[in-house]
Amino acid sequence: MTGEDDDDIEVFVCLNVDCKSRGAQELLDRLNDRVEEAGLDQVAPEPYLCFSACQHGPNVVIPSRRCWLSGVSADDVDEVVAFLAGGPEPARLKAKNDPKLEKFIFDIIDAGLLPGRGDFFS
Ligand code: FES
Repeated sequence: MTGEDDDDIEVFVCLNVDCKSRGAQELLDRLNDRVEEAGLDQVAPEPYLCFSACQHGPNVVIPSRRCWLSGVSADDVDEVVAFLAGGPEPARLKAKNDPKLEKFIFDIIDAGLLPGRGDFFS
């Protein structure tokens, strides 16, 4: 764990066009369901506008874990939830990540630029 025990664990799921066309909404819906079923009250999945990693989507980013998961499907949700509950990082969902793009994603998030958060999708 990363010292995040007292804080919410934000989980950003891209819902922009490319990720959505590959099942990102189903992914987010299932993630919300499984997180609730698992009683992970500190985990907060939310939609995100775009990570500029569109060709790798659906993309999921967990900033407090410095973790970008790419090519994630609804079928991968149980593995992601197990990770959020303290299990192993799903390495296969990071295997194709471009390191430069990964740096870019976290540079944007670290700068506090969080496009699409909040009520953008409501
Ligand atoms: S459409 Fe998902 S990262 Fe751009």
